[in-house]
Amino acid sequence: MRLKSIEHLKAGDLLAKPVYDDKCQLLLSKDAVLTESYIRRLEQSNIQCVYVEDELSHGIEFESVVSDELKIRSVNTVKQVFKSLSERKSSMYTVKDYEAIKGVVDALMDEIFSHRNTLYCMTELMGTDMYTYHHSAEVAILSMLVAKSMGLNNAFVHKIGVGALLHDIGKMKIPGEILNKTGELTEQESELLKTHPQLGYNMLKESANISPISRQIVLLHHEKLNGVGYPLGLKNQDIPVHVRVVTMCDIFNAVTSNRSYKNRMNADMALEILRVETVYELDREIYHHLLKVANIYPAGTLVELSDGRLAIVVKENHEAQTRPILQIIKNNQRDESINLMDHLTLFITRTIDF
Ligand SMILES: [Fe+2]
Repeated sequence: MRLKSIEHLKAGDLLAKPVYDDKCQLLLSKDAVLTESYIRRLEQSNIQCVYVEDELSHGIEFESVVSDELKIRSVNTVKQVFKSLSERKSSMYTVKDYEAIKGVVDALMDEIFSHRNTLYCMTELMGTDMYTYHHSAEVAILSMLVAKSMGLNNAFVHKIGVGALLHDIGKMKIPGEILNKTGELTEQESELLKTHPQLGYNMLKESANISPISRQIVLLHHEKLNGVGYPLGLKNQDIPVHVRVVTMCDIFNAVTSNRSYKNRMNADMALEILRVETVYELDREIYHHLLKVANIYPAGTLVELSDGRLAIVVKENHEAQTRPILQIIKNNQRDESINLMDHLTLFITRTIDF
């Protein structure tokens, strides 16, 4: 299977994973054969890309540490909690909200700690209208994986998961026109948007169930090591480690899942940008743990090699992610197999959408 963007889909393409709409309802099931009208439906639902099974990718599978079912449940729970908070008269977080969030984090803990595979592949299963909820779930999963990779204990990882799922809860109090604005924000709008960490923290203030660790994540997730962040402008060690984990995963996910597929950046380029930011703003050690858990070239990814040849990733390399096992593509067919570990002068220059 491989990820294919909407503009490259053709009638007759076979879906390798189910697709959901922005209400988390099944739009098309796995094994559906696409027709022109199905493709139009996908476009109308703002779906940017889908997984297909085609001749080029036949038999290539990838496994993610978190199942699609649990991912969808996580997104749906965040959506329900955030929505009910914004619709209630008193938008304070309640015990019922906590039970829902805790249930999801418990389930994520089970999958993350029972799985041998540690690579997480961000999956595009829903329409772009789900962005905030989808983003919260992705940041939580990545943050928990990074925390596990750092050797933090289970109770700590759980608290990081709760904080990461709720990190943008304050956005429920920011007008939709600002959150969804496509053009540049005015200075006033941008100042208002920057209040979301404090607003979120205030919403959780009276909830005794939420640990101080989770609350700190909500309040401080936009702080930067050199003091240019907000709301407090904290520096270096004054920003707790659990906050730094979520900040890294928040930025990584925001860059890789730009709401418009065309502007979306592949994981390899996003990681390169983050590497530069680790010089002043982000934690270098946490960055190295992110490199261990984010699947950069999932099986089925089409890539260009430094000698100009095209290839498809057949198997990821957990130890050295930039050196997977590939199959060269010749005349649109899979040809010779190459283990990049055996060809150290050859490297991947970019991923290709095709
Ligand atoms: Fe935020």
